[in-house]
Amino acid sequence: MAPRAHLAIYKVCTLEGCLVSDILVAMDTAVSDGVDVLSISIGGDPTPFFQDGLAVGAFGAIEHGVFVSCAAGNSGPFASSLSNEAPWILTVAASTMDRRIISTVQLGNGLSFDGESLNQAQSFASGSYPLVYAGASGNTDAAFCGNTSFDGFDVRGKIVLCERGGDIGRIDKGVNVQTAGGFGMILMNQVADGFSTLADPHVLPASHVSYSDGLMIKTYIRYSTLNATASFSFKGTEIGTTPAPAITSFSSRGPSIASPGILKPDITGPGVSVLAAWPSLASSNSSQVIFNMISGTSMSTPHLSGIAALIKAAHPDWSPAAIKSAMMTTADIMDRSGKPIVDERHLPANLFAVGAGHVNPVKASDPGLVYDLKPDDYIPYLCGLGYNSTQVSVILNRRIDCSSVKTITEGELNYPSFSVAFIDGKTSITFERTVKNVGEAESTFYVKVDVPGGVYVTVQPNELRFAKTNEEMKFKVTFNKSNNISDTVRYSQGYLNWISGKHTVRSPISVAF
Ligand SMILES: *[C@@H]1O[C@H](CO)[C@@H](O)[C@H](O)[C@H]1NC(C)=O
Ligand SMILES: *[C@@H]1O[C@H](CO)[C@@H](O)[C@H](O)[C@H]1NC(C)=O
Ligand SMILES: *[C@@H]1O[C@H](CO)[C@@H](O)[C@H](O)[C@H]1NC(C)=O
Ligand SMILES: *[C@@H]1O[C@H](CO)[C@@H](O)[C@H](O)[C@H]1NC(C)=O
Ligand SMILES: *[C@@H]1O[C@H](CO)[C@@H](O)[C@H](O)[C@H]1NC(C)=O
Repeated sequence: MAPRAHLAIYKVCTLEGCLVSDILVAMDTAVSDGVDVLSISIGGDPTPFFQDGLAVGAFGAIEHGVFVSCAAGNSGPFASSLSNEAPWILTVAASTMDRRIISTVQLGNGLSFDGESLNQAQSFASGSYPLVYAGASGNTDAAFCGNTSFDGFDVRGKIVLCERGGDIGRIDKGVNVQTAGGFGMILMNQVADGFSTLADPHVLPASHVSYSDGLMIKTYIRYSTLNATASFSFKGTEIGTTPAPAITSFSSRGPSIASPGILKPDITGPGVSVLAAWPSLASSNSSQVIFNMISGTSMSTPHLSGIAALIKAAHPDWSPAAIKSAMMTTADIMDRSGKPIVDERHLPANLFAVGAGHVNPVKASDPGLVYDLKPDDYIPYLCGLGYNSTQVSVILNRRIDCSSVKTITEGELNYPSFSVAFIDGKTSITFERTVKNVGEAESTFYVKVDVPGGVYVTVQPNELRFAKTNEEMKFKVTFNKSNNISDTVRYSQGYLNWISGKHTVRSPISVAF
C-alpha cells in the first residue's frame, strides 16, 4: 500500500502462540526504533483494557505518535466477537475485492455452480466422478470432513461434499479427503457464512460454494435416482465481480464488549483472498511457488497500516487520532456499483460489521476536518469507564488519580463516530465534539444528518466557519428518543456529515435502545 515504506518485522509468535510479554517487548522496541506505524494482526478475546497487553502496548505507542492498526478478528458473523476494541487502536474489519478465482462444479443433472479454488492445476484429471456427502457416513461430525469422517465410508475415487467449520481447517478437510482416497472436494458454507467464499490453495480438485449452492448440491445427492456425479472446471481469475467490496462472514462484529459506547470496528479494507509472497505451499511440490492467497482481518489490517503510512508521509505532524479520523470520515459506504456495502447475506452491512465504511486512500489524505485526540484525553474516558486509579495507571504506565479527574462518558470522547445508548431511562443525550480544520484556511461547513430511526437529532451550531488552518471549533449534537419507537427495535443507524465543497466529513451514528 505504501511503496518504498521501510519495514521492520518483530517476531512475537511461535507455533505455541503469542506471549503478551513478547508482544509488549516488540511494541516498545519498535517505538524506540522510530517506527511510524505498528501493524498488528494478532488479537484475543475482549477484556478490560488494563488486562489487555496489546491495548496497553498500543497506548505507549500512540503516546509516542505511533499509529496502531489491529485486526478486528475472524470470529464473525456473530455479534460482539471483536478483538482490539481500545479507542486508541484502529480496529480493522475484512471485506472482499471484485475478484474471484472460479472453480465451477457441474452436477450430473446439468446444474452448475461457480465456487472458488486457488489451486487450478491443469494436471488434475477432468471428467465426471461419483459424488457423496461426507455426513452420510453417520460418524460424529462427519459432515466437517475431519480425520475420522471416512472411517468405514468409502470415498475412493469420489468427489466429497464437506461442510465448512467444525474447527477443522478448510485445507485440512481436503487433505483428509485425499488421505482417504477421495478425488475431489466441494466445500459448502454453513448458513452463517452465506455467500462468502474464499480462494484457498486446496491439495486436490475443489470448489468452495455458498450455503445456498451447497444446499442444492446436497438435495441433488439425496434425491438422485441414478448415482450422483460431479465434475470441476477451472475458469481462472474473474475481475469485476459483484457485489464488491462486501463484508465477509468471518469478519468479527461489534458491538464492543469492553467499551460499548465506542462504535467498533472502525473501518474495513481488503481481507479476502489476498495475494502475497509466501514461503512454501503444501499443495505444490514446486519450490517455484512463492505466492499464495490467504484471507483474514490479518490481511486487511496491513492494508490500513500502509494507508496510515501514506497519510503520515503526506502530513508528518498529524497525530494517530487525526490519521484515524481522516480514514474513517472519508471511507466509502457504497460499493463499486453504487449500492450500500453488503455483508455475507448480501444484505446491507450494518455499522457493527462495516464501521465507518471501506477505506478510500485518496480521500483520506484530504479529509477537510479531523476529530483529534491527545493521549491525555483518554484519561477522563478511562476513569469514566469505571476503571479505578490503579487500573488506569496500568494503561498509562504512570500514576493517575481518577478522583481528581473530571470524567466523561464513552460517547463524549472526541471520536470520529457516534455511539448513542438510551439506557437507564435516558431520553436525551448530548455530545460535544471538536473538529480541526485541516483543509483550506477559509472554509464553511454545513451539517447534514442522515437521521437514525427512532431519534430526533439537533446539531448546534449547524454551520462552522473557519478562518485558519488548524483552527478548532466545537459543536453539540443532541439525540432525543422518539416516543413511538417499537419495543422490538434494538438498534438504528445514520450519519452526521459536515459538508463544504468537495469535502464530506462523515461520521457513523449507532443508536441502541
Ligand atoms: C485427528 O485430528 C485430531 C484433532 O484434530 C488429532 O488430535 C489427531 O492426531 C488426528 N489424527 C490423525 C490420524 O491425523
Ligand atoms: C450406484 O452405485 C452403487 C455403489 O457404488 C452401485 O452398486 C450401483 O450399481 C450404482 N447404480 C447406478 C444406477 O449406477
Ligand atoms: C508431489 O510429488 C509426488 C511424488 O512425486 C506425487 O505423487 C504427487 O502427486 C505430487 N503432488 C502434487 C500436488 O503435484
Ligand atoms: C482497583 O481494583 C483492583 C481490583 O479490584 C484492586 O486490586 C486495587 O486495589 C484497586 N485500586 C484502587 C486504587 O482502588
Ligand atoms: C430534546 O430533549 C431536550 C430535553 O428534554 C429538550 O430540551 C429539547 O427541546 C428536545 N429537542 C428536540 C428537537 O426534541
